[in-house]
Amino acid sequence: MTARKKPEELRSHRWFGASDMRAFGHHSRVAQMGYSRSDYLGKPIIAIINTWSDINACHSHFRQRAEEVKRGVLQAGGFPLEMPAIALAEVFQKPTTMLYRNLLALETEELLRSYPVDGAVLMGGCDKTTPALLMGAISMNLPAIFMPAGPMLRGNWRDQPLGSGSDVWKYWAEKRAGKVSDEQWAELEDGIARSPGHCMTMGTASTMTSAAEALGFTLPGAVSIPAADSRHARMATDTGRRIVEMVWEDLKPRDFVGAASVDNAITTILALGGSTNAVVHMVAVARRAGVALSIDRFDELARKTPLVANIRPAGKFLMEDFYYAGGLRALLKDIGDLLALDARTVNGRTLGENIAGAEVFNRDVILPREKALVASGSLAVLRGNLAPGGAVIKPAAAEPQLLKHLGPAVVFADYNDMAARIDDPALAVTADSVLVLQNAGPLGAPGMPEWGQLPIPKKLLEKGVRDMVRISDARMSGTSYGACVLHVAPESFVGGPLALVRTGDLIELDVANRRLELKVSDAELARRRAAWKKPEPRYERGYGALYQRHITQADEGYDFDFLEGTAPTAEPEIH
Ligand code: FES
Repeated sequence: MTARKKPEELRSHRWFGASDMRAFGHHSRVAQMGYSRSDYLGKPIIAIINTWSDINACHSHFRQRAEEVKRGVLQAGGFPLEMPAIALAEVFQKPTTMLYRNLLALETEELLRSYPVDGAVLMGGCDKTTPALLMGAISMNLPAIFMPAGPMLRGNWRDQPLGSGSDVWKYWAEKRAGKVSDEQWAELEDGIARSPGHCMTMGTASTMTSAAEALGFTLPGAVSIPAADSRHARMATDTGRRIVEMVWEDLKPRDFVGAASVDNAITTILALGGSTNAVVHMVAVARRAGVALSIDRFDELARKTPLVANIRPAGKFLMEDFYYAGGLRALLKDIGDLLALDARTVNGRTLGENIAGAEVFNRDVILPREKALVASGSLAVLRGNLAPGGAVIKPAAAEPQLLKHLGPAVVFADYNDMAARIDDPALAVTADSVLVLQNAGPLGAPGMPEWGQLPIPKKLLEKGVRDMVRISDARMSGTSYGACVLHVAPESFVGGPLALVRTGDLIELDVANRRLELKVSDAELARRRAAWKKPEPRYERGYGALYQRHITQADEGYDFDFLEGTAPTAEPEIH
């Protein structure tokens, strides 16, 4: 039997338990909102951290879902308080939502710390919102449960299913090659996003929400439910009910996020063919819980994890199909021998208990292991003189013949240089060239945008080339594909070896041996390094200035150095 908290042990009791002058302010202002003392005194106060905003299309159902969460909180005897947080709308926010991931993490932590909160429901799903909310909640370490946005319905165009992102890249390449008209392009725009919910390919959103479930942060089966399905609304209410119990049980994130559950999350990501962005996010999430995760753990676990989710971009289907096929619980049951099934989760049961009885209903979508899209190694961590801190590649998303490749570099100094020259008919480039983008990392871009899938030069597209080796210190959308080497660390902006590459240098990619080498002598590299000049910082003031002082490199999780780890932060004094 789990020991239960007493009402006077609730954290919020510090605000509301006294009858002094300060508590007068707290009581009178709750009364101002129309509540009686009996509505909240002695009850768990639940913050609903809502990343709703008019600008976040993926969370456009979150006003309604927040009401459904509240209903559950009230039914279970809690008192819900909705607290908005920055929405991080992936498509709209510039230069990239990644610049602001740590801001949402910090905001989440400080909202929970500074207000009378006993537990939290974290409402997210659009790409960076999930890791950010988890990071903040783990650092604050109050009882917390994640309420995933759910994927949107399949896109549709002329009776063809359309996948977020993946089909944009595909049809954009066809449009540039002259095979898709302006009118067809407009139809594609209208048909690809048909409902609330996050991207419904195995992009960063589906990857990180699934990682959250495998970490133990959601009710079982929650993340696969399409946003528009009525079961999603019921899951929201169940989530609200559960958090109240979690407060009484004092079940906190660091009680269930540990080395075993982090491995479960990584294994899940790999079996799903998840986004490379998850490498950066999971390092940050794990380190917030005191798990010293290195990017090499992804490579180790990839060697024994089959990619069995037949979902785009690696596979054929979409998240709606995945749900009907049994969803994440069914997939996890299938790979149960690779998971630590005794890891705890938010509902108080183990992962193994939560997936018991799950079934696969469509073996074309959740593949049997003998038919895995990739038997092992769906994600690889590369090292070499070009990436001493490491780099990542998703071999499953690349044309196989490029996985061992030696070719001359075509170097772009930054994104604008690339945009200006990539389609220049005079650009000296062949299908064997290695496209290199510099200054696209955490400090260089800034914000490490998803520029890592450099476009194929138009003149090569017209000849039928659809993949090339591309190298950058940027990230790549999880919905993208190609032989793209990403997250090169340290980045070029801080003088990493990527900064020293010149057009014409030979670069060798050898995924089987996990190598990325610049075939230039040490003496020549030393000469170039001596001539290299440190660029000026990007920001003089504001959040950007704070960011550039404290952001860590991709292999370290891209967290702020002052937010890493588990050092305690004092609770606020109630004066
Ligand atoms: Fe929100 Fe893709 S734009 S998840």
